[in-house]
Amino acid sequence: MDSLKKRTHYCGDLRPEHEGQTVTMQGWVHRRRDLGGLTFVDLRDRAGICQVLFNAERNPDLHRAVKDVRNEWVLQVTGLVERRSAGTENPNIGTGAVEVLATELDVLNRAKTPPFGIDDPPEASEDTRLKYRYLDLRRPRMQRNLRIRHQAAMAIRNHLASQGFLELETPSLTKSTPEGARDYLVPSRVNPGNFYALPQSPQLFKQLFMIAGYDRYYQIVRCFRDEDLRADRQPEFTQVDIEMSFPRKEDIFELIEPMIATIFGISGVDVPTPFERMTYSEAMDTYGTDKPDLRFDLKIRDLTTIVEMVDAPLFKQAAAEGWTTRAINLPGGAKYSRKDLQVLEEEVKQLGAKGLLWLKKAEGKYQSPVLKYLTEANCRDISESLTMVEGDCAFIQIGPRVDVLKVLGALRLILARREDLVPEKPHRFLWVSDFPLLDWDSEENRWVACHHPFTSPRDADIALLESDPGKVLAQAYDLVLNGTEIGGGSIRIHRPEVQQLMFRTLGMSEVEARSKFGFFLDALEYGAPPHGGIALGLDRICMILAGESSIRDVIAFPKTASAVCLMTESPSPVDARQLRELHIKLVD
Ligand code: AMO
Repeated sequence: MDSLKKRTHYCGDLRPEHEGQTVTMQGWVHRRRDLGGLTFVDLRDRAGICQVLFNAERNPDLHRAVKDVRNEWVLQVTGLVERRSAGTENPNIGTGAVEVLATELDVLNRAKTPPFGIDDPPEASEDTRLKYRYLDLRRPRMQRNLRIRHQAAMAIRNHLASQGFLELETPSLTKSTPEGARDYLVPSRVNPGNFYALPQSPQLFKQLFMIAGYDRYYQIVRCFRDEDLRADRQPEFTQVDIEMSFPRKEDIFELIEPMIATIFGISGVDVPTPFERMTYSEAMDTYGTDKPDLRFDLKIRDLTTIVEMVDAPLFKQAAAEGWTTRAINLPGGAKYSRKDLQVLEEEVKQLGAKGLLWLKKAEGKYQSPVLKYLTEANCRDISESLTMVEGDCAFIQIGPRVDVLKVLGALRLILARREDLVPEKPHRFLWVSDFPLLDWDSEENRWVACHHPFTSPRDADIALLESDPGKVLAQAYDLVLNGTEIGGGSIRIHRPEVQQLMFRTLGMSEVEARSKFGFFLDALEYGAPPHGGIALGLDRICMILAGESSIRDVIAFPKTASAVCLMTESPSPVDARQLRELHIKLVD
C-alpha cells in the first residue's frame, strides 16, 4: 500500500523521553472518545496502548476524518509526542504520561463491530472468544500470555543448548507409542487399510537417538492424545522432551532445576533449588495423591492403631477386613454446621466414599456422630495424634487404603479451597519418585505400566518382575508444581532381555511385542547405552507462570473440552471422494 510508512515506535513504547519527537505508529483503534473540539483515539498494538489527540483547532481536516473511525479499525498515525497536562495523566498504562498530537492519519483498514470488546477481563463467554480467537488474542492479557510462552521456550532452548543438548526432530506420522491414552490415527492413502498414529510422545524416537549415539537430545514438540479433557489437558499439547545417555536420576534433576528457575526468574519469581523430594508412597500416605500441593498443610494421619480397639461395629469390621483409618484435621473446622457437614459428606460420596465421619473439639468437649462408641481416652488419643486444638474438626475415613487415601486426598483440596488456605505464592516444586512400576488393571485383568513400558524397574527389583510384579518400584519421577504434574520421566530399560521381560509381564505375547515394537527390540540389541530423560508439559508450566487456571489461556488456538476448534469448526465431515481415496467407509 502506497500510504504505508516505516513505523518509528510501537504505541505501547512511548515515554516522556520521546517528548518533542515526531513518531509514526500503526495499530488498532481501542477506543475513541469525542469531546467536541477534541477527539481522543486510544491506539493499540502488541506493546500497549497510547493516546492520540485530534485537535479541531490545530488540525481541522484530521479532526473531521477521525470522526468516521470505529473500534478495531487499523490506523497509521504520525504525530508529535507531547506531555499530558497535569491531572490528565493515566498512571495505569506505561504511556500514561504522554500523548501524540496527530498530524497525519491513514485508515489502513476498516473493521466490523467486533462481537465483544477487546478488554481484560473478557466479557464474552469462552465459546465466543474461541470462535473469534483472532480477536480474543488481541487482548493485552492474551498477548502477555503468549509472550510468556515465547520467553519460556527461548529460556529452555538457551539452557539446553548451553548444556550440550541438540534440538532434533522426530516424525509426526508414526506408529503408536503407548502413553496411556488413545491414539489419533491418520489413514494412509497409498497403503490401503493402514494407519499412522500421531505421537502421544516421541518416547521411542528419543531413545533411538541415544542408541544412535547423540548423547543429549531435546525437542519442543507437539504431542497428541485422545483422552478426556480438563482444564490442564488438551488433545494436542507441547512437551519439552529431553533424553540423555548415561544419566543418574540426580543428573536429570540437576539439569531441570536451574532451567525451571531461569524460566520463572524471567517472570520475576524466585525459585529456590534444589527442589523438595518425596517418594510416591510418602506422597500418597501424607497427601492422598501423587501430585501434592504443598502450599498448604492439612496432612493425612494414620489412626488405624488408635481406633483398632474401639468397640463399635464399623471399627470392628475395619479391623476384621484389615482396613485403614485415616484422618485430616481442619483447624477451626468446629465452626462447620450440620448442614455444612452434610454438604461435605455429599461431595465425598460422589468420590466413592460411603460417608464422612467427623470429630469436633469444641466448648471443652468432643462431638461426633459416633461419640457413643468412643471413650474419653479414644477421643484424646485421636486428638493428640492429629494435634487438634479447641475449635478443630477431624474428618475420618475408614476402608481399603487406596479408597481412603483417594477420598482424603480430594477432601484435602476441597477443604483448602473452601477455607481459602491456598496461597498463590510461594510456588512449591516437588520431585516425586519411586513410583510403582505396574498397576493391576482389574478390567483387563493384567498388569499395566504406571508410566510407560520403557521405564526401568529399580535394579534390585528386576527379579521381582516375574514373582511379585506389584512390588516392583520404577526408576521414574514426576515434577509437581502446586499440585499440578508439570513433568514426568524415568531411567529407561536399555537391556533387550529386560524389555522383553517387561512386555511379557504386561501380558504381551512375543508375536504382539514384535509386531508393535520389533524395530525397537532390534535396536536394543545393537549396544543401547543406559539412558533416561523427562518430558515437561510446556502448556502447564506457562499456565502457572501466567497465573491462569486453564491451559487454553496459554495456547493460541486451543480446542474446547469436547476437542473441537470452534473457529475452524474442526473436526468436520469430509467429502465422499476423500473417503474413497482413503479406502474408508463410514458406518453409523
Ligand atoms: P507424560 O505422559 O508424563 O510423559 O507427559 C509429560 C508431561 O506432559 C504434560 N501432559 C499434558 N499436557 C497437556 N495436555 C495433555 N493432554 C497432557 N498429557 C501430558 C504433563 C506431563 O507431566 N514420554 C514420557 C516422558 C518421559 O518418560 O520422558 C511422557 O510423555 O505435564
